[in-house]
Amino acid sequence: MRASAADVDADTGIKKMREGIKEASSENLLTPRFYTTDFDEMERLFSNEINPNLDETEINAILNEFREDFNQKHFVRNDAFKAAADNIKGEPRRIFIEFLERSCTAEFSGFLLYKELGRRMKKTAPAVAEIFTLMSRDEARHAGFLNKAMSDFNLALDLGFLTKNRQYTFFQPKFILYATYLSEKIGYWRYISIYRHLQANPNEQLYPIFQYFENWCQDENRHGDFFSAILKARPEMINTFEAKLWARFFCLSVYVTMYLNDHGRSEFYESLGLDTTKFNMHVIHQTNKTTATIFPQVIDTYNPEFKERLDKLVGINSKLAAIGKSSDSDVMKNLARAPLFAGFAAELIGLLAMKPIDAGSVDITGVPESDPAFMY
Ligand SMILES: [Fe+2]
Ligand SMILES: [Fe+2]
Repeated sequence: MRASAADVDADTGIKKMREGIKEASSENLLTPRFYTTDFDEMERLFSNEINPNLDETEINAILNEFREDFNQKHFVRNDAFKAAADNIKGEPRRIFIEFLERSCTAEFSGFLLYKELGRRMKKTAPAVAEIFTLMSRDEARHAGFLNKAMSDFNLALDLGFLTKNRQYTFFQPKFILYATYLSEKIGYWRYISIYRHLQANPNEQLYPIFQYFENWCQDENRHGDFFSAILKARPEMINTFEAKLWARFFCLSVYVTMYLNDHGRSEFYESLGLDTTKFNMHVIHQTNKTTATIFPQVIDTYNPEFKERLDKLVGINSKLAAIGKSSDSDVMKNLARAPLFAGFAAELIGLLAMKPIDAGSVDITGVPESDPAFMY
């Protein structure tokens, strides 16, 4: 069914659910997901009796930091937002809204998961439960701030509707821990890198939201550090042969997803004066160094083969996108896609088979937790 003119935003052609509300983008492998897990097993993982390695002093220190609520007064909007939104026109407007939506959905996904974990663990692990609840507070703030920005474009998300209607992906608890650790740390590096770039190039500041990224990213950094403390307390999650494989697998899937997503909309990064590839490689290297302080193995991101294969994946991905847009029949489209999928899988396997870097302990690697060096 074609959307009628009233259901479409006049400036961008973006579909609306109703007045002022954007229809959520359809989901695919690369869009941010909502997660669910085995909450009973999570409870067991965090129970003090079952998990004596959990360092109570460290957990309480983290809890106190979250209670401080450093960013309580940070997310306050001003008049500059609406005026800046009105000035973004044409194709950049559409791309910008897409960026806000992706970011908002990812932040909101964290909110939902942490909130549920906080609720479920109240009895068995009250300190950990409170940390999750406070992290969900942060994520709600981040998502809300982004959604307010979307409303400047008259295209906000209906987050209540998404909560009820979006698909939830099930991950075992240990996979949730790897994935959330990585997404917090890569989120930190993305936000801080964009912030520093715009600080150095203030004339590229398209929209005031980026000025908030400096304190904002500290929330993500703290969230990541909490997961790092949790992982440290579960040696089987970071020391075994299986753990090494999963560690690399999750690094890779997070890096590849970002690289493909960002290269699929490089106009956005270019509109901020960033070079998409350089920006991505910087974020990947830094995230990988940070991750090497806790994961038992990471990807050798400096091996030239790594970037070569990422670029091949971008090429395949854009061919797949072109097929999706063509007017061929579904049968023809699928025939054209098959070899591309095979090529895609081969690149991923090639990436996973690259010689890894053994890592795992701050003490062993001596990699600084957050190296502020920026390449621009
Ligand atoms: Fe966040
Ligand atoms: Fe976060």
